[in-house]
Amino acid sequence: MAVLTIDAGTTGVTALMVSEDGRVLSRGYQEFAQHYPDSGWVEHIPEEIWQATLGACQSAVDSAGERPSCLGITNQRETAVLWNRNRATAPRRAIVWQDRRTAGICTELRDAGHEPRVTELTGLRLDPYFTATKLTWIARNDPRAWQGVESGDVVVGTVDSYVIARLTGGSRHVTDASNASRTLLYDISTGAWSPELCELFGVPIQALPEVVPSYGTVGETDPDSFLGLRIPIAGIAGDQQAAMFGQNCYQPGTSKCTYGTGSFVLVNTGKEPVAPEQGLLSTVLWQHPDGTRDYALEGSIFVTGAAVQWLRDGLGLIDKASQSEGLARSVTDSGGVVFVPALTGLGAPDWDPHARGAIFGITRGTTRAHLVRATLDAIAFEVRDVVAAMADSSGTELAELRVDGGASSNNLLCQLQADQLGVAVARPRIQETTALGAAFLAGLGTGVWSSTEELMQTWQLDHRFEPGARDDAAHRRWRVAVERSKGWTEL
Ligand code: G3P
Repeated sequence: MAVLTIDAGTTGVTALMVSEDGRVLSRGYQEFAQHYPDSGWVEHIPEEIWQATLGACQSAVDSAGERPSCLGITNQRETAVLWNRNRATAPRRAIVWQDRRTAGICTELRDAGHEPRVTELTGLRLDPYFTATKLTWIARNDPRAWQGVESGDVVVGTVDSYVIARLTGGSRHVTDASNASRTLLYDISTGAWSPELCELFGVPIQALPEVVPSYGTVGETDPDSFLGLRIPIAGIAGDQQAAMFGQNCYQPGTSKCTYGTGSFVLVNTGKEPVAPEQGLLSTVLWQHPDGTRDYALEGSIFVTGAAVQWLRDGLGLIDKASQSEGLARSVTDSGGVVFVPALTGLGAPDWDPHARGAIFGITRGTTRAHLVRATLDAIAFEVRDVVAAMADSSGTELAELRVDGGASSNNLLCQLQADQLGVAVARPRIQETTALGAAFLAGLGTGVWSSTEELMQTWQLDHRFEPGARDDAAHRRWRVAVERSKGWTEL
């Protein structure tokens, strides 16, 4: 009774086979290409996401040596995908959540006074991060693709919807409430697409997917399209919400931070959306089959793991991301170097699409080890700023932060994080919590597990990092550096 789970992330697709007792039986992973056709633009080819999904699933299923009983899916959120309703082929590349090309459209809408109403309905803000302005951009700049949307031949959605369309041979056009809540087109209080917002952003409401609960069967895979398997698709959630589910953050006040391409801190706020303040977002965590929803406050940091990737691929300072820990430990501190990794602008809590990455404090004594150490410091500072915003807006201090994702295996980063936060950082044994959360949703939706209480039994601590001395002077320098990185593309 293993559950197959797909995490269609920003740089690659992970598939896991998860056993009834919550163990990872096998995994598959396949990367796909990132395209940067212009400054600040990031695109994916939908067909490559699908091929990576097939490849990752094939190797996970083959190495587990058993047939999965059901399927869960989680995904990079906000990315805008278009595909032909019947054939599921895509008329253009997807515009990725990191893409900044719609900063001008956001400014236009903000200047016209729309932001307060957009935030009231969606819990979000006018920023290129979210799906809607990417669709507005396509309507204005790619009339050939958009004509299909207007005629009804082409549909729009996020990556979950696209992958489900492919899994079902084009028969289902659905998304779950957590993904819908990231589009700027969905009213998080009523739980439905907003005609007012669709009108504002120029998106035909009939092109959008049906919004379904985050667990419970919504369709079956088509064996001709998907590895000869006919199994129920029974769990869907955006990756950060899935990580909350995998970390067992089911009660109000519980929180986690996932270190992926970016880092995302979420705190469960219960059954009603909370008005977002201090640069945070209010978002749907998941929708239950009875139609009720749980909500979260979120601090979205765009570039953390991607900064380590840039040290590796852009600068060639390291060969593998895992080398960053040893190199950063070889120096006692960053030697006064501060790196602001605003490589795709700044997200929470500063929100500036015009900011760009900056490195301050370089001297003749600066080495690559200092720069690598400054990168890990930056990740810890970014998360500290978001957690401080959460404490300010909710009036409650965090008791502990659960962490997961690729960079959570870096012990130095976890220690720096605990030091900067002044609270303990708890790392579970399974750090692929995003994929695990989607498995839990699918298994809950099909009766593999009967309750969240049962799922809580599967969480096991790997290590708890207790906070040590905190370097507030370094954090003050960091804040000055962040301010100096703002507005760069407007100069
Ligand atoms: O909102 C963007 C997020 O869903 C992407 O996550 O794991 O690819 O950094 P990740």
